[in-house]
Amino acid sequence: MPQPLIIAPSLLAADFARLGEEAALCKASGAEWLHVDVMDGHFVPNLTFGPCVVGALRKATDLFLDCHLMISDPLEYGVRLAKAGANLVSFHLEAVMDPGEVIKGLKDAGVQVGIAINPGRSPEELYPYLDQLDLVLVMSIWAGFGGQKFRDDAPGRIKVISDEIARRGLATRVQVDGGINERTSKLVREAGCDTLVAGTYVFNAPDRAAAIASLRA
Ligand code: DX5
Ligand code: ZN
Repeated sequence: MPQPLIIAPSLLAADFARLGEEAALCKASGAEWLHVDVMDGHFVPNLTFGPCVVGALRKATDLFLDCHLMISDPLEYGVRLAKAGANLVSFHLEAVMDPGEVIKGLKDAGVQVGIAINPGRSPEELYPYLDQLDLVLVMSIWAGFGGQKFRDDAPGRIKVISDEIARRGLATRVQVDGGINERTSKLVREAGCDTLVAGTYVFNAPDRAAAIASLRA
């Protein structure tokens, strides 16, 4: 089932000293979601935000908070993020032994749930969980840092999963993250992607509203 397009600016590229203002500017510029990259220095070699920052963001904005967990214990911290006000929590398939258990624990905490896969994973590995998920996240870079180059194999991987979602008649969203700009947004949308994360492209733009509009064009 095709879903309305959602643009989710990634706060990883924002000014961390002014997150509330950055969130307000994203909303005023036409974004529907905010993408919050949670990293633990273990699953990926970088550290970012946790539940305290998500709680502060929850007070500062009514935008949908889409938390992308690049951490080794997504159930423990995903539940804490849910309590702090996250709307959706995505965890990496590579990080857990029992994805079904993590999905259930997060749903019980009251959040929407997604699973992310790095470029090394085949989209078919998500098939057993598709009907339980609100979103699948196909990484178009290796998770860990913003500003990387879009991988040319991403549209093909997105098409595999979005075709399967359509075949089953599911409402699961298909998200992409990494190297999204005016050019690559067209490639991933043609492949069936309905939820676009963009960090550098949106936050470095002189006119954020124009940058967000260009991702929809
Ligand atoms: C990286 C993060 C991304 C990052 C994307 O691991 O998951 O959300 O912010 O940054 P850009 O859009 O700059 O590639
Ligand atoms: Zn991300």
